Amino acid sequence: MRSDAMHLAPRPAGAAPLPALSTQPAPAHAAATAAAISRHAQRDGALLPLLHDIQAQLGFIPPACVNQIAQALNLSRAEVHGVITYYPHFHSCTPAPHRLEVCRAEACQAMGGDALAEHAQARLGCGFHERDADGAIDLEPVYCLGLCAQSPAVALDGRPHARMNAQRLDRLLDSLKNGEAA
Ligand code: FES
Repeated sequence: MRSDAMHLAPRPAGAAPLPALSTQPAPAHAAATAAAISRHAQRDGALLPLLHDIQAQLGFIPPACVNQIAQALNLSRAEVHGVITYYPHFHSCTPAPHRLEVCRAEACQAMGGDALAEHAQARLGCGFHERDADGAIDLEPVYCLGLCAQSPAVALDGRPHARMNAQRLDRLLDSLKNGEAA
């Protein structure tokens, strides 16, 4: 079964190399992947919902499971890998303990979202889709958190925070570092 996702766009330049053929998935990862395959393999365009399902279960899509997915959907490993690396939403390694999402959509941009995004990157010392130097926080863009009337907004570990600015973001991240509830 093929997925329409392969026709959305070419594989981006600089995509990560394919995982080694000999890599064997951890039993728990193989089991989660098999369960997702059983839920989605028979539907049209199965690849994307299957990948979402695996990431929802494991927090990432293990590279060692790419072959298992490809075989189940009658795709090549390169096709599956290309879709995983095309969408920034999908992760190929375990997530950091924390995740900071900064809204990059229009309403937040109009209320200082660009400066907030720049501050978040400077504070964490990494760009979007990257991890801070301590390995503690993944920094990701999002496109609307449903807080447009109270923009700009971020979400830390899934919890939204409205009317943010650099100082409030610093306090939020400081509280995380100090082990306080975000
Ligand atoms: S545009 Fe940022 S929360 Fe809606």
